[in-house]
Amino acid sequence: MIVRVRKLKKDDIPSCVSMVANISAGPREVTKRYIESNFKDENYLMLVAQKDENIIGFSTVVYEGWNNAAWIEWMIVHKSYRGKGIGSKMIKKSIVFSKEKKARKLFVDTGIKDRKAIKFYKKNGFKKHGNIKDYYIDGDDAIVLGLDLISV
Ligand SMILES: CC(C)(COP(=O)(O)OP(=O)(O)OC[C@H]1O[C@@H](n2cnc3c(N)ncnc32)[C@H](O)[C@@H]1OP(=O)(O)O)[C@@H](O)C(=O)NCCC(=O)NCCS
Repeated sequence: MIVRVRKLKKDDIPSCVSMVANISAGPREVTKRYIESNFKDENYLMLVAQKDENIIGFSTVVYEGWNNAAWIEWMIVHKSYRGKGIGSKMIKKSIVFSKEKKARKLFVDTGIKDRKAIKFYKKNGFKKHGNIKDYYIDGDDAIVLGLDLISV
């Protein structure tokens, strides 16, 4: 299976908005605006995974200069293509981007009950940094995981 991970282009935005809508209750318009206003910003890396003509993965990472750290904001692989290394490919490119920015850490938050996602990040070298109670709009708690970029 040939899957290409590349930078997001304007034409990819509707597919990415749909992918987010499949896993999150947030309004589509908010996601659309978030992508449109940031995908060309040099402090963001927005990636898509493409198989044939289809977008099957989407990820975003932002470098925050004030704190010299980067955050993964979205990381999604289409259900039918999970467990094939596509998410890890997007993480690796996000790590390269964060290191190029000279960030000291790469962070991510995910639902505390999201065992598969937590396993995925740990497999990619992230370690638990803490929990945030009542972080998500539905009242779920978050776990924050971090990767020390100085040592990778
Ligand atoms: C988390 C996610 C991005 C991982 O992407 P992926 O392409 O399936 O991940 P990879 O194939 O690179 O890595 C697979 C590892 O992730 C974990 N994993 C998470 N979900 C999985 C799934 N549905 N199937 C298989 N493995 C999964 C396993 O630990 C697996 O390791 P293993 O093969 O040694 O068991 C993807 O499952 C997803 O989109 N989930 C829904 C959205 C989400 O929770 N995003 C993260 C929060 S921001």
